[in-house]
This record gives sequence, C-alpha cells and structure tokens, in this order.
Amino acid sequence: MAAVPANLLATLTEHQQTQVLRWWDQLNASDRTQLIRQLELVEFPLIRQIWQQASQQASGTADSCSRSEGSRADRAAAPRSVVRRPDSDSARAEWAAAARVGEDLLQRGRVAVVTVAGGQGSRLGFEHPKGMFPIGPVTGRTLFQIFAEQILALRRRHGAALLWMIMTSDATHEETVGFFREHDFFGLGAETVEFFRQGSLPAVDAATGRLLMCGRADLCLSPDGHGGLVNALRRSGMLRRMHDQGIEHIFYHQVDNPTVVMCSAPLLGFHLLRNSELTTVAVRKLGPSERMGVLVAVDEHTEIIEYSELTAEQAARSDASGQWVFWAGNTAIHVFTRCFLERLADSENSLPLHVARKNVAFLDEAGRMVQPADSQPPNAIKFERFIFDALPLAGTTLIVEGDRAREFNPVKNHSGADSPGTAREALSRIGREWLAAAGVAVDPAQPVEISPLTALDPEELSQKIERG
Ligand code: UTP
Repeated sequence: MAAVPANLLATLTEHQQTQVLRWWDQLNASDRTQLIRQLELVEFPLIRQIWQQASQQASGTADSCSRSEGSRADRAAAPRSVVRRPDSDSARAEWAAAARVGEDLLQRGRVAVVTVAGGQGSRLGFEHPKGMFPIGPVTGRTLFQIFAEQILALRRRHGAALLWMIMTSDATHEETVGFFREHDFFGLGAETVEFFRQGSLPAVDAATGRLLMCGRADLCLSPDGHGGLVNALRRSGMLRRMHDQGIEHIFYHQVDNPTVVMCSAPLLGFHLLRNSELTTVAVRKLGPSERMGVLVAVDEHTEIIEYSELTAEQAARSDASGQWVFWAGNTAIHVFTRCFLERLADSENSLPLHVARKNVAFLDEAGRMVQPADSQPPNAIKFERFIFDALPLAGTTLIVEGDRAREFNPVKNHSGADSPGTAREALSRIGREWLAAAGVAVDPAQPVEISPLTALDPEELSQKIERG
C-alpha cells in the first residue's frame, strides 16, 4: 500500500491537519489516491490565514467587520460612469447607436456567453441543478431551455456562432450534462455548448480550523463560489479557446434569472464604446431595505457593498446633491473583456476568499456522521470567491441601468420575493405586454409564455403577428 507522500505529510504536519489521515490505514489504493488528490489542491496557508482572520473578527480581537465595512460604506458614493435608461430623444438615439455597435460585435462572432450554474440552490430547495427548474408559466420550460432558445435565436438573428459556456460544479455537473444530452442540446449542437467544472474548497471546523471530513477518504468540499469562474476558465482551456476563436467579450449571467436579456446589443455596444473592461447592469433598488447588493464608488473604484454590510441609516443615505447613494442594485449581469479575465487568471488568488459560517455534516473522530442541528451555532466555515470582486480590479468599469421589470426576476427562494411565483408572473406580464404592443388583447388572468424562438423582443413579435 502506498504511503502518504512525504511532502504532503510535512505540509499536513506543519498546518496541524494530520487528522485527515485518521483512516489512512483502512483505505484502499483508489481511496488513498482520491484523498491525496483532494489534499494536493488545498492551499493550506491561505485557508489557515482566512480562518484565523474570521476567528479573530468573531471574537472581537480584530477590527470588527462592521467597523471596517462601516467606514467603507461611509466612504462610498453613488457609482460613476453610469449610462442611465434613455429618457429623451437624444438618449434614445445614443442607445440605438450603441445597439448597432453591439449587433456588429455579435455578427462578427466576437462575443461568447457564460452561464454560471454551479451553485447548490439551497434556498430554492429543488433537488436538481437549478437550471433544470421548470419556470415557464404555460409549458413549464426549464431555465436551461429558456437560455438555450435565446442562444439559438441570437445565432439565427446574427448569423454567427455564439459559443455558450456553462460553468458547473461537482454538485451539478453530471446531471446538467445528462439533461442537455437528454434534450439533444435543445437543437444547439453538442459541439457549441461547453461545460466546464469550477473548483471546490474545503470546509473547516469553525473552532479549530481543522479540515472536516465527509467520508474516510473525502474532505467536506463545496463549490468555490461564482468567482471560481476565473480559475475555471483558465484550467478548462476556455480562455485559450476564446482567444483562438477571436472572442473578445464575454456576456456573463446567472442561472436563476429567466428574464435576462442575453447579449443585450446596447449593453455590448456601450461596453465597447466606453472602453470598459467590466460592464455591469444595475437596476434601481425598490427601497433602502431591499436585500440586494449595490454598486458604489469607493476611493475611485467601482465596488459592491452587500445589503448585510449596511445599517438601515447608511442604506438610506443621500449625497450632497440629494441623490440616493445606494440605488444601484446588482443584477449579476456583466460583460467582461477576455483580456481582463486573462489578467485575473494570471494568479489563482486574484479574487479574495470570503467566509460563510454554515452547519456542515461531518465524520467525528469515531467515524460517525454528525449532522449539526439548524438550531445550533454553525459548526463550520466555508470559503468562496465572488465574481463581483473583479470590479475594483478592472482598469475601467461601466454601469448600464437596466429595465428591472423586464430583465431582472431571479428565482432565489422557495416562496415569497424572488421565487418561482414572482418569476412566472414576470414572464406572463412581459408576454402580455408584448402581445398588447402587437395589438393582441390578453386576459390579464391568463398565464402567457413566449418562446425566445418566437420572438426575442416585442418588435420581432409584432412583425411576426403582422405577417401572420
Ligand atoms: P447564489 O449566490 O444565489 O447561490 O448563486 P446558489 O448556490 O445558487 O443558491 P443558494 O444561495 O444556495 O440558495 C448565484 C449564481 O451563481 C452560481 C449559481 O449557480 C447562480 O447562478 N454559483 C454560485 C456558481 O456557479 N457556483 C457557486 O459556487 C455558487
């Protein structure tokens, strides 16, 4: 039987993590290989450093998070470099000009789409990857099908191969790929959809910083957050492939928003015209207490402040000109230049690790599985990276104000706000509005669903209805 590689043993000893070898003698060769592979990916010094910081903050022996965030929130101003919704003829002309530039980018094959679909969707409580959730109010189309149909419709409209990259995780990969195969890739062509897996990060015991085990040869691993995209694009070879195919801009969206306007032409156009490395769609928050991260300017950088980092008073603050500072809600719809992503990917740790205190089931010393009760304080610390931490690292950023009712209706929760109910209602409402614009009256109580293959926008629907 293979022994523990000497360098790994030395690292584990140095970082007081040899408990992960507790069952080594009982493992067969393939289990040993698996455990070694998992351990080789762990950045022990980084994990230890972040755990230590989190512990000091929790015990009040470091600058408290709220104090440092408080000062960041106090320094924050409303974001700069913003394109607001068009409200005049000249602004509408500017948007139309930007749309022509965006269309040109699409026609020349300069754009690819990435959908991040590696999350575990715990708030929704659906037992499959979230993209498989049936959301169409009439047909029960899944989120994945809606996106696939948008991609197909965009390819047809612009006569270009629009590469679709879907980031999965260990938690979602097999089922997601199986689902696409089962549906024959929704007509897109298997070779035009690329699935690539994000990395994972280990959970540690909150009190001791020791790695938790979920099996005798298994660390407790979870996906490394949507910010894992940067490393995953590099490791999977997708950055290289985009470079080789002449793709220069990447439209990024999350799997949970069925009303996202993929590759919005004005968005792409403004991104190019303003020379932006990272462009983000923001929508006006419903009010200061809405639980939504906001885009702000802090010390000349564009950043995101999470709602949980603001006191009620801070969240409502206006600046000297009377403008509400924290209006710009983050939709997680972005456009990246490929060069910027390549720069970020030069280092594994461009994006910082964040900690989340969670209850994580683990094997105790006796090898028994322990499931901590929800009523208990979290036993573990998990780590993840956030894609929006790329914002302050970009040389130039731009914020384009989106039409909230049209573009941003995410499915996050099982019920209530941002749930399947609100998203289905939004899809129906949008369908009714497009039909009304085409002169078709619809009973407001009637659910409506328009496939992206029928129309991507109200103009296309009107033309199709006119032509009969
Ligand atoms: P959320 O932050 O809403 O997380 O993800 P989630 O895992 O989907 O849901 P909860 O918090 O457990 O309820 C926002 C987007 O980022 C993706 C998700 O798939 C979703 O599209 N994501 C999140 C990843 O791709 N990987 C991750 O590790 C986390």
